[in-house]
Amino acid sequence: MTKRIGIYNGSLDQLDKIVVSPMSRAFLFSDSIYEVIPFHKSEFIGFQAHIERLDRSAAMLDINIDINLCTQEIILLKERSQFPSGYIYYQVSRGIDQKRSHIFSGGIPETFGFAEPHKFQQSAIKVKLVPDIRWGRCDIKSTSLLGNTMQMNSADKDGCSEVIMHRDNILTEGGASNIFLVLDDVIKTPSLDQNILPGITRDLVIHTIAELDLKVMETECFVEDLKIANSIWFTSSTKGITEVESISNLETSIKKGHPIFSEVSKRYIEKFLT
Ligand code: PDD
Repeated sequence: MTKRIGIYNGSLDQLDKIVVSPMSRAFLFSDSIYEVIPFHKSEFIGFQAHIERLDRSAAMLDINIDINLCTQEIILLKERSQFPSGYIYYQVSRGIDQKRSHIFSGGIPETFGFAEPHKFQQSAIKVKLVPDIRWGRCDIKSTSLLGNTMQMNSADKDGCSEVIMHRDNILTEGGASNIFLVLDDVIKTPSLDQNILPGITRDLVIHTIAELDLKVMETECFVEDLKIANSIWFTSSTKGITEVESISNLETSIKKGHPIFSEVSKRYIEKFLT
C-alpha cells in the first residue's frame, strides 16, 4: 500500500509518524473545523467552494486562520500524494491549550491534513431513518460530529451505511451527506434554512440539474415524502451521487435506477468523474 502523507503545522511527514499534542483543542473540545476536498485524475472538484467554506466556518467560530496558507497546504498534499483519485482531509483547530479551559488563552491555530485514496462511484446503499439530535449550527463544518457518529454507528448495527435524519418529521440531511428526493417528476432537496451543511456536492448537483433543464425545489421535505418518493439519493464529496436502495425502518416506493437519477448521475459523472 502507498504510504499516506500528512501535514501537521506546516510539516509534511508520513501520516503514521505525525505526533500531536493531547492539549490540542481539537482533542479536548472538538474546537475545530474541517474540509474534505475530493480530487479525480489529479484535479480538485469544487476546490474554490471548499476553500471558501473553510474560511466561512473559521470566521463563524472566530478562529483566526490564514486561508492562503491552508490553501497551499491542501494543494501540497494533493501534489505529494501518489493517488490519482482521492480526497484531502484538512482540519484547523483553535490552537493548543497550556491548561485545559473552555476559554482559550490565545495562540495560533493548529493545522492538520492528509491525503487519502478513494473511489467515488458507489452502488446503491441501505440507510436508516433517525431523529436529528444535533446542535443548532450544523451549517458550520465543525469536527464536533457526535450526533452524526452516534446515529451512523447505530445504523451500522442494522446493516446500513448512512442515515436520513429528521427533526419533527422534517428531513434535514444524511449523517455525512445531503439528500435529494424524486417525487414523480419533481426533484426536492431540504433548503439550507433547515440547519444543514451547505454541501458543495449538493450545489454542484443543483447546477447539473439546471443544465439538464430539470427543476429542483429547495424546500421543506417530510418523512411522508420518503414513503412516496420514487428515488432518493445522497450527495457528498466522498459519495458523489449515491442512490438509496432501501430504508431499513420505513416502507418506501423507491425504484433503483430511476430515469431522473440516472440522467443526473450520468451528467455529474461526465463532468467531474471521467
Ligand atoms: N461530509 N452533510 C454533512 C453532515 C456532511 O458531513 C457532509 C460531508 C455533507 C456533504 O457536503 P459536501 O458535498 O461538501 O462533501 C453534508 C464529509 C464528506 C465528511 O465528513 O467526510
